[in-house]
Amino acid sequence: MKALVLSGGAGTRLRPLTHTSAKQLVPVANKPVLFYGLESIAAAGITEVGIITGDTDQEVRAAVGDGSAFGITVTYLRQEQPLGLAHAVLTAREWLGEDDFVMFLGDNFLIDGIEPVVAEFTGARPDAQILLTKVTDPSAFGVGEVDGDGKVVRLEEKPRVPRSDLALVGIYLFTPAIHEAVSSITPSRRGELEITDAIQWLIEQGRDVRSTLIDGYWKDTGTVDDLLEVNRIVLERLPARHEGTVDENSEILGRVSVGPNAEIRNSRIIGPVVIGSGARINGSTVGPFTSVAEDCQIIDSEIEYSIVLRDSRIEGVHGVEASLIGRNTQVTSAPWTPRAHRLVLGDHSTARISA
Ligand code: TTP
Repeated sequence: MKALVLSGGAGTRLRPLTHTSAKQLVPVANKPVLFYGLESIAAAGITEVGIITGDTDQEVRAAVGDGSAFGITVTYLRQEQPLGLAHAVLTAREWLGEDDFVMFLGDNFLIDGIEPVVAEFTGARPDAQILLTKVTDPSAFGVGEVDGDGKVVRLEEKPRVPRSDLALVGIYLFTPAIHEAVSSITPSRRGELEITDAIQWLIEQGRDVRSTLIDGYWKDTGTVDDLLEVNRIVLERLPARHEGTVDENSEILGRVSVGPNAEIRNSRIIGPVVIGSGARINGSTVGPFTSVAEDCQIIDSEIEYSIVLRDSRIEGVHGVEASLIGRNTQVTSAPWTPRAHRLVLGDHSTARISA
């Protein structure tokens, strides 16, 4: 069994971050979201992994390398354009050969891992197997309709009137039967070859498409709000670690992980929080539910429920919350209360200013 991990795509909903970097590499508790997926693939005993990449190919390669750090062997498969999830399967056709495979969307996060579902699939070996989970707003997802035995009778992509409350999770198990399906469908209204259409094609051909209902936490980290929530969930389970230095004027409350060479002075850290190696926190309140990456500086500031990527500096700013701050970014206070606001914002930025 192989794994096909999708790490291409446009990532339009995470702009401006995705103008310069891969959305699958945005860190959650200071570890790229993609790494959690690769770890769960390795934990399921799968070692041959193909990674689909797009414009951010170089960055993904630099982060994952040959896969040996995860105990897997990685082959990179370049998708020239993000033409859909089924198009990614077409792109990987030769590499996949006649093997069964698990397809894993690189920005999806599944807390319980994939070991049980891989075992279930290899045991029963239906033509395809999907994962479903109950959601409150099914119209935002691919939606599955199943019979009493878990056999899938219909799949629809973002239906206006959903037939069930079961959303399709971004992890699929396929036999080579999927190859004929992806070659038989045509692009959808949004111009993509949809994997839901390919699976629906299998159902219409009378093939056996099964589903597993999962009740553990799952999230597609397509938006800032999703990422902040997954960050919260991961931080809630993160063990405490104290490798940096904390001076006697600082207070550490709850579970806090402080990386090597990090320095905390005159500050209050309210867990769960992770502070990366080499970060400096001075005169600040950090947390709860905040990840500060390596070599950041947080000085005379307050920040909670946020993710700060590496090499960034926040100085003299109070009340930062629910924020995602990119790499090498400066957030500072203006030296006087201006009537005008001076802004240097990239394309697709969001700025909220109290007028
Ligand atoms: P999506 O989140 O559906 O698409 P996207 O990355 O283009 O994002 P947005 O909607 O914000 O523009 O993709 C799910 C995963 O699959 C994600 O990790 C990117 C990846 N992907 C590919 O590798 N190739 C593709 O053609 C598409 C559409 C997605």
